[in-house]
Amino acid sequence: MKEFVSGEIFGIIRSCSESLGVRSYVVGGYVRDSFLGLESKDIDVVVEGSGIALAEAVGKRIHARVSVFRTYGTAMLRFKGMEIEFVGARKTSYKHIAGEQIIEDGTLYEDQQRRDFTVNDMAISLTGEDFGTLIDPFGGIRDLNAGIIRTPVDPDTTFGDDPLRMLRAVRFAVKLSTPERKFSIAPDTLEAMGRAAETLKSVAGERILEELNKILLSPFPAMGLRIMQDTGILMQILPQLSRLETVEVQDGKGHKDNFAHTLEVLENVIHFEKEASLEPKLYLHWAALLHDIGKSVTKRFDPAVGWTFHGHEAVGAKMVDKVFRSLKMPLGEELKYVRKLVSLHMRPIALVDEVTDSAVRRLLFEAGEDIDDLMILCNADITSKNPRKVLMHRANFEKVKVKMTEVEKKDEIRNFKNPIDGNYIMELFGIEPGKDISVLKNAVKDAILDGVIPNEFSAADAFMREKAASIGLKPVE
Ligand code: CTP
Repeated sequence: MKEFVSGEIFGIIRSCSESLGVRSYVVGGYVRDSFLGLESKDIDVVVEGSGIALAEAVGKRIHARVSVFRTYGTAMLRFKGMEIEFVGARKTSYKHIAGEQIIEDGTLYEDQQRRDFTVNDMAISLTGEDFGTLIDPFGGIRDLNAGIIRTPVDPDTTFGDDPLRMLRAVRFAVKLSTPERKFSIAPDTLEAMGRAAETLKSVAGERILEELNKILLSPFPAMGLRIMQDTGILMQILPQLSRLETVEVQDGKGHKDNFAHTLEVLENVIHFEKEASLEPKLYLHWAALLHDIGKSVTKRFDPAVGWTFHGHEAVGAKMVDKVFRSLKMPLGEELKYVRKLVSLHMRPIALVDEVTDSAVRRLLFEAGEDIDDLMILCNADITSKNPRKVLMHRANFEKVKVKMTEVEKKDEIRNFKNPIDGNYIMELFGIEPGKDISVLKNAVKDAILDGVIPNEFSAADAFMREKAASIGLKPVE
């Protein structure tokens, strides 16, 4: 393993550790990623002794500023773009609940026992005769090669120490998976997740969200969400989504499993992003995840037509607010964007029956600059077990897309700006701010969207003057 610790910094850590008479090791993500052939910019160093003292010695040698976190017994410094964290080996479990952090000095082995997963638990010695030797008491290499996420000790203990680790298990499974080789969670670790799912309630929303976001941005989020659903974790953190899996049957008629469908939509979105060489967009993934959450609430059985979900997009858009609040997600533009996409996700395909210019203009106006993302979501939403149906829907969808491009080219509605502004109206008619202004502006907007007038000033001005006259307004001389 010497090649993994051949960098200049490791030589310096070695020399400083030996001067202080302590043993040190590089552990965790750096070792895991080195074995996977991945570059890692974060280096975690465990010291059998004081992490802070070693960091200070290294800092002095390389003239780097050391940030010390005494409460946690850790210290951090930067060197050539790398972030190096030093910590003393710890014995007992460390809890993330405020005031319950119990830290006792320990050996490397004791420190490894209280880490999360075997693949994150390997260490390489940085001192003495065994410099560069791998220390892997829990089978990290075996599990890395077999593609298994497993806790080093009894999983109930590992998850009891920090319930967030259940989501980390999912995150590492999806993050380390490749198209050729998927990672899975060891059966006993998975069972323990089922038992401990409820304890996630004690974890701060921000920490849960951070993991969820990482899962959503990984190459296989659907796989992660499936694990979360099957272990009951999803019911704890996103019950509105988890409930979509319930399929009801009445008069021998069932409806689609909307949870499975949602996962498929999410996978499709990722596929379309890749196809168009777009960077994965976190909130587009959120929109895919939440696009049908209104379905469990709006579900009705009508003997004449079977199951219906009328208005699920509007109800779902309202539910998005609740989800964002409960997960402490940002309530600004991001919320607006996801709400918009959820509320509009049925619109493009509904246009197929009546692809009029004005219907297209209305949609372009409402979606604004998010129209491309809406179209990705809408296309991704076409899922069916019947390949003929999928082909038919896709062909219809393409028809709408072509129409949209034509209308946009002609009318430039996407970034619609009303050609008539309020100040102009006030000056023209010598009136104060008030309701008449929005009446006139809306009339112009509607006339443009309905194709009554083109999207340009002179036509809009003439139209507005006519409308103003009809409500008794006259231009001042
Ligand atoms: N760790 C842990 N339990 C946690 C968080 C972290 O045991 N709840 C340990 C793991 O051994 C992990 C190391 O601390 O490898 C560093 O944690 P972190 O930086 O979160 O993860 P990395 O493994 O470095 O992976 P990444 O940087 O990709 O998140």
